[in-house]
Amino acid sequence: MRKNIVAGNWKMNNDLPLSEALISDLKRQTKTSNAEVMIAPTFTNLWHAFEATRHDDIEVIAQNMHFAENGAYTGEVSADMLKSVGINTVILGHSERRAYFNEDDAILAKKVDQALSKDLRVIFCFGEELADRKAANHEAVVESQIKNALFHLDASAFKNIVLAYEPVWAIGTGETASPEQAQDMHKFIRKTLQDKYGNQVADDMTILYGGSVKPANAKEIFSKPDVDGGLIGGAALKAEDFYAIVNAF
Ligand code: PGA
Repeated sequence: MRKNIVAGNWKMNNDLPLSEALISDLKRQTKTSNAEVMIAPTFTNLWHAFEATRHDDIEVIAQNMHFAENGAYTGEVSADMLKSVGINTVILGHSERRAYFNEDDAILAKKVDQALSKDLRVIFCFGEELADRKAANHEAVVESQIKNALFHLDASAFKNIVLAYEPVWAIGTGETASPEQAQDMHKFIRKTLQDKYGNQVADDMTILYGGSVKPANAKEIFSKPDVDGGLIGGAALKAEDFYAIVNAF
């Protein structure tokens, strides 16, 4: 079933005391929408965040994981490690991982496989750069990112996948894709899924938009028929702003 989701990606922000404080603020907010609420703190705060939100309508999720089961991968975190601290969902393929840590489609395909094999739900991110959009190449780029990382999967795997379209030029820049640009791309993504896997997978797929979503623009973006929620960076670091976005549905 298609869901509405608003997920906050905290990136490399908030040490443990700040994470505790933000979670306390989040717990004081009132949710008036039907959206599922997720927050993605950094690894060192996951266990605390999970414990602190145990009885709340907030799912704690991870920002990344490694593709290997375990072993000699200094500094990395495995799917089992995430599961052992209560995590059931992981973000994979964020453009910052792609750009700064050289995560390409082949690595991401392995990460997706590992996450799904451990029953982790995946929020899979992708999106074009400004040069791609200027060259009117954005659909081709997005199509290849999705195909290369996901199209080896069976249709049944897609019930544990959420897609997040995040045009790189709109992340952390204050630039937002217009609601029409977001809708056009989300429609194209759904069509790409439909061509390969049929109506059911396409209709049921939750597709999030990410890139400078704020309280002021969330309602208009979320009103588009193929936009099912948002992946929120900067505005997820303030509880009031984050819940204004959650409640924009
Ligand atoms: P932003 O980040 O909302 O700060 O643009 C979005 C993201 O990177 O997920």
